[in-house]
Amino acid sequence: MIALGCDHGGYALMKEVIAYLDANNIAYKNFGTFSEESVDYPVYAKAVAHAVANGECEKGILICGTGIGISIAANKVKGIRAALCGDVFSAKATREHNDANILAMGGRVTGVGLALEIVKAFLETPFSNDERHIRRIQQIED
Ligand code: RB5
Repeated sequence: MIALGCDHGGYALMKEVIAYLDANNIAYKNFGTFSEESVDYPVYAKAVAHAVANGECEKGILICGTGIGISIAANKVKGIRAALCGDVFSAKATREHNDANILAMGGRVTGVGLALEIVKAFLETPFSNDERHIRRIQQIED
């Protein structure tokens, strides 16, 4: 189950992400927002981050205008490793190296075609399980 959250700046791109998930039969829980009316991104960041941290959802996708505010807010929640990605290499690497559990993107930054490739890479790339990466992730939590 993938937890989804966005603000008004990410709403248009989130609709495209949802269409991608639907087309690929990927289950999700949408925490909103549900329109382009102006809202506060930390509300959605925290809802998604808590759903991932408590195990209700396996991973999350967060989108605001830049992806910056919503990733900063998500990373305040213990156990969350939210990665702001604007390219496929980073999406793949952050899964392999950081075991990132939330993907953040900028709806006013990243075009739809690239964003969906980033989503695909993020969802399909497993964590490497390499000892050095496990050690470094543990150091983040300490
Ligand atoms: C909203 O205008 C904008 O500030 C928000 O979407 C995001 O870019 C914040 O980091």
